[in-house]
Amino acid sequence: MSDPGILPIVECGDPVLRRPAEPVDPSDLRTSEVRLLIARMRATMEAAPGVGLAAPQVGVPIRLVVLRDGPERWGQLTEDERMARERYDLPFTVLANPAFQPAGDGEQVSFYEGCLSVPGLTGVVARHRAVRVEALDEHGEPVDRVFSGWAARIVQHEVDHVRGRLYLDRVESRSLSTIGSYARLWAGRPTEDAAASLGFALSRLAAQPATDHGQSSAAIFRPRRRAVPGRLRDDHPAGPPGKRHPR
Ligand code: NI
Repeated sequence: MSDPGILPIVECGDPVLRRPAEPVDPSDLRTSEVRLLIARMRATMEAAPGVGLAAPQVGVPIRLVVLRDGPERWGQLTEDERMARERYDLPFTVLANPAFQPAGDGEQVSFYEGCLSVPGLTGVVARHRAVRVEALDEHGEPVDRVFSGWAARIVQHEVDHVRGRLYLDRVESRSLSTIGSYARLWAGRPTEDAAASLGFALSRLAAQPATDHGQSSAAIFRPRRRAVPGRLRDDHPAGPPGKRHPR
């Protein structure tokens, strides 16, 4: 396929980001139209740069997401920071009609993340450390796979997108920082430092997820079981300071 073209990214305030997207008909995954959309989403994500992108972010209201993480996205993360976030190489992955449930021991971790549809900002979000994902791949074949670490964060962020949610619904609002402030003040520092200085609690996800239409579950102010050094830089989305993120 020749240059698939980069698509404009829809930004928050557009209703397409707030409506639950439509399921993908498995038979459509092999059509040239959807294959071209996937190629364009990949090109758009890579150009942003980001580590994930959902179809509603390019104005297409279907449950289709793409993921990719790797060294070219790690920016100036130190090895310690990368390990704390459990960021490993994640080959390009397509998920249609994704759904997930918590996996592992149910641990949750809090880090800064961002979103290509919310340019210029980053904030702390609690996410499941591991999730079991059921979906279809780009060939319409079933996927049943556990994602952990940063890959799990990306999946949860992208599934939110196809449900009409943004990370802003889950963020610790007092953690919100411009990319510039983040880079100047919080990059390379534990999330706890930002929490203490900005006045937010490190939250945990609600035990029961809200409905697809509901406000997120997000903030339940209880001490976390485990302190997690956090910071972001990519959004899980996001990208290095100065860039935007993932998604
Ligand atoms: Ni996003």
